[in-house]
Amino acid sequence: MTSLNFALSRTAAREWQAGDEIVCTKLDHDGNISPWLELAHDKDLTVHLCEIDEECRLDLDHLRSLLSERTRVVAFPWASNAVGTVLPVAEVAALAHEAGALAWVDAVHYGPHGPIDVAAAGADVLICSPYKFYGPHLGLAFGRRGLLESWRPYKVRPAGLEPVGHRFETGTMAHELLAGFVAAVEYLEQIGWDFVTAHEHELGQRFIDALPDGWALHGVPTMDGRVPTFAITHESLAPAEAAARLGERGFAVWHGNYYAVEIMKRLGLEAEGALRIGIVHYNTADEVDRLLGALAEIAQRFVRRGEPPAAM
Ligand SMILES: Cc1ncc(COP(=O)(O)O)c(C=O)c1O
Repeated sequence: MTSLNFALSRTAAREWQAGDEIVCTKLDHDGNISPWLELAHDKDLTVHLCEIDEECRLDLDHLRSLLSERTRVVAFPWASNAVGTVLPVAEVAALAHEAGALAWVDAVHYGPHGPIDVAAAGADVLICSPYKFYGPHLGLAFGRRGLLESWRPYKVRPAGLEPVGHRFETGTMAHELLAGFVAAVEYLEQIGWDFVTAHEHELGQRFIDALPDGWALHGVPTMDGRVPTFAITHESLAPAEAAARLGERGFAVWHGNYYAVEIMKRLGLEAEGALRIGIVHYNTADEVDRLLGALAEIAQRFVRRGEPPAAM
């Protein structure tokens, strides 16, 4: 996704002028911020960052205030890979369009959690990564036909421009990865989004409801308006330490900022980030319960920096 975003943003901006503006959000992964910052650096553009509220929802009033006739793109995630917020994609896209800007959606984190309908969402460009929805390490991009036809691609002269789906392919296709991509889509279709969303909702709520004392959940406090991706911190246990202890107990979690730099700054967590728990459709209620037990246990046994508490 990141490589595609650097390439496509540059392609989109060929005719843009100094002073043109881009709006990103504090919920974005850096893969949908740095391409715009680099473009801004090269072409003297301005990048604004849309604020979030106390529950890590996008501040739509702030977004409205940032839009103007200079806005070329509103770049935003479908879901946050750090705090799990699901954005009102169609609403954000409509605001972008009212301002004459493109709606540029990063669907990487939403990919494994729900169905993506680019037309209903009003996306002009949508980028995603099949490895997040159980496929191979491949990037994918959707672009509205008229838009893609209007862009001049960066590509070698002998490679054709038609059909439009091939217009932005730069060389020999990654056929083996594409076969894996098709298999991943078939796998998800076989499971069905109804099951995925209902099951994840149930497990996520189970996790939220029983989060042990001392752990703080950052972001949307119920499963409505989020995916089951949880950034949590403990008052006396560093995220890196907690991740290591959970790893010893067989739980694969991550700590730090997961490249979601702006949200960590906004939450005052830029130094150590947070512990990230990600639940998906193949997890079970038993796993969630065991994880909750492990969170309680490590918080009792280890204090900051892994020193055993004095009493032990
Ligand atoms: C929301 C989001 N956007 C972008 C990316 C980057 O994707 P890729 O690794 O395919 O470049 C990630 C990866 O974690 C992500 O979670």
